[in-house]
Amino acid sequence: MNKTVLVTGGAGYVGSHACKALAASGYVPVVYDNLSTGHADLVQWGDLEVGDILDSDRLDAVFEQHNPVAVLHFAALSIVGESVVKPDLYQRNNVQGSRCLLQAMAWHGVARIVFSSTAAVYGVPMDVPITEDMPKQPINPYGETKAAIEDDLARSGLSWTALRYFNASGADEDCQTGEHHTPETHLIPLVLDVALGRRENISIFGDDYETPDGTCLRDYIHVTDLADAHVRALARLLDGGKPGPFNLGTGIGTSVREIIDTARAVTGHAIPTVTAERRAGDPPVLVCSNEAASRELGWRPSRAIETQIADAWRWHQARFGS
Ligand code: UFG
Repeated sequence: MNKTVLVTGGAGYVGSHACKALAASGYVPVVYDNLSTGHADLVQWGDLEVGDILDSDRLDAVFEQHNPVAVLHFAALSIVGESVVKPDLYQRNNVQGSRCLLQAMAWHGVARIVFSSTAAVYGVPMDVPITEDMPKQPINPYGETKAAIEDDLARSGLSWTALRYFNASGADEDCQTGEHHTPETHLIPLVLDVALGRRENISIFGDDYETPDGTCLRDYIHVTDLADAHVRALARLLDGGKPGPFNLGTGIGTSVREIIDTARAVTGHAIPTVTAERRAGDPPVLVCSNEAASRELGWRPSRAIETQIADAWRWHQARFGS
């Protein structure tokens, strides 16, 4: 049986962990990545084909050569703030690029795709925990591009799954891959930068929210648990499973202060904080229901916030320590 899977964006954070999980389950990942934000040294579980999802000719050649049975599509720009400043860039890369990929799949008769989506498709949720049937009302161009592709998939007749990640965190427990964004905007790696002496302090973006300690609650999910969900979603599609979206989170909300306290315990560093203005577009609470993924994929995230931060810390020291 053909086990080759094309992984766009496989040199990135979630994509590289997915490649490791795919290989461990007997699949043959082939990474397709333009290396604009990904890293060639994180491609360790299969071939790397350097190319852009907007390059139809290159896609054509790679589909021809590798003949994948399915696509895992991670390649995208994913910085919310940047998307507000450069909406056209996000439209071109994320939406036009994905359409180019879907076109190449059609030409080559590849009918299955697992799409990397986001909690950002919900915008400010009407209620928490968030379920998949809640309306898609993104409040920034990044979320809009992901929602647009979900809509395309729903109309495509393809066999598809959209995985809506909440806050991806942590790193591979063997420290073979992990988070490496330039610039870094996410809370946990920035907190770990302070512990490593690369930053003086961490800004808390607002401490007057209507939450237990006044800081925002997020649903942090270990990247290895995310990777596992991709393998399950792929197997389900190969088995004839129905199209649709799944939330991927633990269902547990953790505040900014709790993240910093946990990081202090893990690293032994004082991690000084400063209180800053609220960041525009930050909902106070984003927590999901993962019941659908649990029921349909048999997925059970198993790595708590302490493990997420401990694994991220090990990776952070190895990657960025002197
Ligand atoms: N935060 C700080 N200080 C910082 C950085 C972040 O207080 O220096 C806070 C944010 O205000 C937020 C929380 O930490 O309350 C988490 O922020 P991140 O930037 O780490 O993550 P977001 O929740 O903003 O974003 C994540 C993904 C996005 C996705 C979004 C969905 O990274 O890709 O969830 O809402 F779009």
